Amino acid sequence: MSFLSPSLLSANFYNLSEQLDILVENDVKYLHLDVMDGNFVPNISFGPGIIKSLRKKYDFIFDTHLMIVNPENYIENFKDAGCDIVTIHYEATKHPLRVLQQIRQMGMKAGISLNPGTPVEVLDYLWDELDLILIMTVNPGFGGQSFIESQLKKIKRIRELINKNNPEILLEIDGGVKTTNIESLLDLDIDLFVSGSDVFNEDIYLMQAKLDKYKEILRRI
Ligand code: DX5
Ligand code: ZN
Repeated sequence: MSFLSPSLLSANFYNLSEQLDILVENDVKYLHLDVMDGNFVPNISFGPGIIKSLRKKYDFIFDTHLMIVNPENYIENFKDAGCDIVTIHYEATKHPLRVLQQIRQMGMKAGISLNPGTPVEVLDYLWDELDLILIMTVNPGFGGQSFIESQLKKIKRIRELINKNNPEILLEIDGGVKTTNIESLLDLDIDLFVSGSDVFNEDIYLMQAKLDKYKEILRRI
């Protein structure tokens, strides 16, 4: 079964609860939380404080995507904020394996994210500590970019490797996913589709229509 993980980055923050409530009404299970530090990526978003306040009201699986350098310094903060999955970028730390272990030791699921230019081989010695692999299908930092087609090859290769090494590992893609291209991705055996700008809309009726469309498409898998 495949799920949508809507990215909060594209939400309308002055009317956040209306937008999140409509996700709840539509049985959306995951919420993708993009944490950016203005250093690993050229943008700044939000941190554990905002996530912790959302946790008071919402039961989504908090799918946290850390685009920050030295994530090892903040894992405890994200645990305290109520995160379920914490994904780090391979290049964001000198010790990716150690940080994955740290995330798991705190009782959360550990993910690694690969930038569009990062080769699959970096996974070679991480398999034992992985719960999720996040393939960036845009350069990280901003919502609303176009899907980078060269990543299709990487998605197929990583699916093969997951099946060989540990089929329990979730495969997630992030960036440029829309109702207009998700149908072409359905046979790639992707577990989680992140979508931000295509899902959130200031017009709540348009947002509902979009969620209906995603539900209809994902039901086909
Ligand atoms: C980009 C973020 C994405 C982003 C996706 O760095 O990791 O999660 O919000 O946005 P869309 O779906 O608009 O490409
Ligand atoms: Zn993301």
